[in-house]
Amino acid sequence: MLRGRLITIEGLEGAGKSTSIDTIATQLNDHGVPFITTREPGGTDLGENVRKILLAHADIPMHAMTELLLMFAARVEHVDKIITPAIEAGRWVICDRFTDSSYAYQGGGRGLALEDIATLESILIPDIKPDYTLMLDVPVEEGLARAGRHSSLDRFEQEEVAFFERARQVFLKRSEAHDRFYVIDAAREVASVQEDIAQWIVSVIRETST
Ligand code: TYD
Repeated sequence: MLRGRLITIEGLEGAGKSTSIDTIATQLNDHGVPFITTREPGGTDLGENVRKILLAHADIPMHAMTELLLMFAARVEHVDKIITPAIEAGRWVICDRFTDSSYAYQGGGRGLALEDIATLESILIPDIKPDYTLMLDVPVEEGLARAGRHSSLDRFEQEEVAFFERARQVFLKRSEAHDRFYVIDAAREVASVQEDIAQWIVSVIRETST
């Protein structure tokens, strides 16, 4: 049996990840590709509980390293229980955020050393890398405006513009360094962005079936 593929979707808040995942799902269905969708932090019962801790507001700020380790704790479970079994069973995994978000948010945003994150990645999830990553790029202000400054902001959404600027730069640097990335200017009109994403995923499907 052919192994499945891991496709990750990255970008700042308000970049349009949910709509893009719907577009990808439609194309995979139309082409008869079996897949699951999942998200980080989360994806397992344990991971969803960790997500609650990570996103909740607390009076005492969380140490950046605690935040990073919780992201990876959830990820180890996710890879072990959901992602690897699905891929081995021939299913594609469409994952809303993955390790690139840790580099961007905990590295860029919080200022942790990118080498330390790379070390954790190599120790904790040595056998899995995304096959393809869709990076939805939007200027920070635009993304934040789209995400809406609603009343119940989570721990990340309440961060300042400069935090997201640093995160965006890390996403962009990583996309230059790795061929698996497809960066799309997601500030354009939604319909045309989604058309490009549909074309991209169809080309990925073709590439993997030859
Ligand atoms: P997400 O559900 O994608 O939030 P949104 O839909 O608002 O973009 O992700 C939750 C938050 O977790 C998001 O602000 C980014 C953050 N995050 C990290 O900081 N590091 C990580 O490794 C991951 C996976 C997410």
